[in-house]
Amino acid sequence: MYVDGEAKVSEVVLAYSGGLDTSVCIPLLRERYGFDKVVTVLVDVGQPRSDIERGNLRAEKLADEHYVIDARKEFVDTCLFPLIKANGSYEGYVLGTAIARPLIASKAVEIALKRGIKNLAHGCTGRGNDQLRFEAIFRATDCRVIAPMRELDLAREWEIDYAREHGIEVPVTKERPWSIDENIWSRSIEGGKLEDPYFEPPEEIYGWTKTPSSGRPSQVVEIGFANGVPVSLDGVKMEGLELIEKLNLIGGEHGVGRTDMVEDRVLGLKARENYEHPAATILLAAHKDLEHLVLSRSELKFKVMVDEAWSELAYMGLVEDPLYADLNAFLDQSQRRVNGSVRMKLYCGNAISVGRRSPNALYSQDMVSFDSQTLSQKDAEGFAKYHGFQARLLKRLGH
Ligand code: ARG
Repeated sequence: MYVDGEAKVSEVVLAYSGGLDTSVCIPLLRERYGFDKVVTVLVDVGQPRSDIERGNLRAEKLADEHYVIDARKEFVDTCLFPLIKANGSYEGYVLGTAIARPLIASKAVEIALKRGIKNLAHGCTGRGNDQLRFEAIFRATDCRVIAPMRELDLAREWEIDYAREHGIEVPVTKERPWSIDENIWSRSIEGGKLEDPYFEPPEEIYGWTKTPSSGRPSQVVEIGFANGVPVSLDGVKMEGLELIEKLNLIGGEHGVGRTDMVEDRVLGLKARENYEHPAATILLAAHKDLEHLVLSRSELKFKVMVDEAWSELAYMGLVEDPLYADLNAFLDQSQRRVNGSVRMKLYCGNAISVGRRSPNALYSQDMVSFDSQTLSQKDAEGFAKYHGFQARLLKRLGH
């Protein structure tokens, strides 16, 4: 590209996973868009080492400059901890892919700013949510946004041929054509025969969870919480990252945390989605249980609405909407008393709370107990007389 008669190299930063789509984007950005230099940014949010290594190898061959950013701790502290406080769930989906996208996008933006590059690209198609999540972050800069997969509307067959021509080996076979997105919070499996929502997922799609079996003895784990986030496992203090990794392994042994659902994408398309997320299932169930011990009835009732609004923004990737920060402020405030621990029993695909305790419990065994005299039951009589009062008045009027 020539500007003012001077040779100027045109460069683009690509949010890069190392998978087929983003790998194919590298030569496409040169050949179809005329960029001289493609800079790839691979963000580690806890995907398998082998994915990162494959990405590095491919980038070495294809890209002009390559960055790998270990964002695992930041992902846990700034994305997953707020998610736990919000009991994050969209239609039953624990938001693993969704919550990672804005962070990945912001790392690509950081590199573009550092390198003075004015073009940002992602490899998302025009069918899913990820394009929206990336672009909500990308378009807040004054960079040009390029989405080769969406813009060129390439057929899968063409893409595979093109990849092979450029020396990208294509391991996706006809029998196992799953599209997988993985990070420390969840593993999502889409595509192939799973696109028929009536088709039962074969066991082979699962990578983290064993087949739930009643033959395997149950196991109890104790999760300690401080200010609404997990801080210990079985009494041992632990960093969030390690705790989640451990719980994924333990829960996976018991087949905990499989989801098979039809999900409403932002665009309105319904999609069949399969997920596995043992740690997320255990931690979200434990957290909610502890909240019920320590928060007031009115707090719990109101918080359901906050959780829902938070989850929807997270699903849509709108973490820069000011409402997101407002909701997080409420969540932080509400979680100051969410301290204590919950015992979770893992058995045959289930994670069930079987015990909870907290120094902040709004629970009085003394008051509620069948065996206690502390509460004068007579005092409740007046209250009971007025309970349902208006309905009785109406009944008397013959309604
Ligand atoms: N439906 C989920 C979401 O929008 C997950 C998408 C994961 N992508 C994949 N290629 N498996 O967040």
